[in-house]
Amino acid sequence: MKNKKQLGKALGAVSSGLFVLTAKFEKREDAVLASWVNQCSFDPPMISVMLATTRPARLLVEASGSFIVNILGKDSETLMKHFFKAPQEGESIFKGLKTKQGLNGAEILTDALGYLECELEGQTPTGDHVLYVGEVVGGNILKGGEPYFHTRSNGFSY
Ligand SMILES: Cc1cc2nc3c(=O)[nH]c(=O)nc-3n(C[C@H](O)[C@H](O)[C@H](O)COP(=O)(O)O)c2cc1C
Repeated sequence: MKNKKQLGKALGAVSSGLFVLTAKFEKREDAVLASWVNQCSFDPPMISVMLATTRPARLLVEASGSFIVNILGKDSETLMKHFFKAPQEGESIFKGLKTKQGLNGAEILTDALGYLECELEGQTPTGDHVLYVGEVVGGNILKGGEPYFHTRSNGFSY
């Protein structure tokens, strides 16, 4: 790749929202701060999410066949800060947050702008990520407000 720096700037100009994907299988649950989430069908409504091949939450998405996307708003600083740092060893990733259970027991963050409950419809390996497509079978606005979105100065990192 000749002009990686310039290419990174161009890639980084692809804007994204900010979300927290949650998934649960049996007693294991997880959450991932994720920006690579997009709508990909109207009828039925579907969204795509990208998870790094190394992301442990992938196993829960695949085993449960479902996931929830919590949508962060411009006013969701507390949730953003919470998910920017890793939880303490042995502590729940949801410690200190208000949640309720959604599809297949995965957590809905009740302080988020809103959420989408998805049934897994397909997956495809995509470079260093895996593309998951989910049919949106439930969801609602919670706190509402303006969605958060951002660009990056370098498209080779989140
Ligand atoms: C702004 C932002 C967006 C992210 N988007 C994604 C994403 O779309 N997919 C993904 O698998 N990880 C994404 N991540 C990384 C995960 O949130 C990751 O679990 C977290 O940064 C912890 O990283 P670690 O596994 O290196 O400790 C993103 C991170 C940040 C800060």
